[in-house]
Amino acid sequence: MTIQSLEPDKYNSIVLFTGAGMSAESGVPTYRGAGGIWSRYNWEEVACETAFRADPAGVLEFHDHRRKLLEPCRPHAGHAVIAGLEKRHPSVAVITQNIDGLHQQAGSERVIELHGSLWRVRCTDEGRIIDLQRDGEWPRKCDCGAWLRPDITWFGDQLNHAVMRQADEIIRGCDLFIAVGTSGVVWPAAGFPQLAKSGGALCVEINTEDNEMSGLYDTRLRGPAGEVLPELLK
Ligand code: APR
Repeated sequence: MTIQSLEPDKYNSIVLFTGAGMSAESGVPTYRGAGGIWSRYNWEEVACETAFRADPAGVLEFHDHRRKLLEPCRPHAGHAVIAGLEKRHPSVAVITQNIDGLHQQAGSERVIELHGSLWRVRCTDEGRIIDLQRDGEWPRKCDCGAWLRPDITWFGDQLNHAVMRQADEIIRGCDLFIAVGTSGVVWPAAGFPQLAKSGGALCVEINTEDNEMSGLYDTRLRGPAGEVLPELLK
């Protein structure tokens, strides 16, 4: 498939909306599809407040395991192209559902993490946020004695309203919306293509396969993010 460059300089405001497929070529498993995390684990036992209250140590063990698996993962060419675009274009924003920190590792600075980050934990009593080191000891208890939970959005959690408002505003105002590697099934992110279209944006989807929301996009590019993005944004 020959990918026509979009000539990013033709656009005023560009949004890269990314999901787990953006990190797949870096070795991070997706959630759905073959080998997905939710085909191997039951989120009701490892990724929701109820499970955490029932078995905090077990839930933290699962998230420590996910963090351990992330340690060797590095950004790929697609992450690098997005970070490079941000350096040369006046208005580029990454809005990601991913919690792996790979966009920041690649050098992207304007990154909105809809679902938080595995590299932060939050005191369940004081709400204090603690940044974790990649190769450090990951504490499970705060100095105050309360459990430290991952600073990520679990199923059933309220999304951070300030983050959602910021994402909403940026998407409404963009004129190029590129969704990369998301199945588009989780709300409110699933509503983002419509939101972008309502603002008049050109909507482009990069995915290895069709999914429920593919029909909402003006252009659907089928291929891995690490190969398509460098062609599309050169
Ligand atoms: N390049 C591009 N797309 C890819 C690649 C790749 N190399 N590999 C897989 N994909 C696509 C799949 O076809 C699928 O459409 O990435 C998508 C991954 O979908 P999910 O696993 O559902 O991930 P995501 O859309 O990010 O899930 C959203 O669900 O469980 C929650 O909080 C979790 O943030 C996550 C949210």
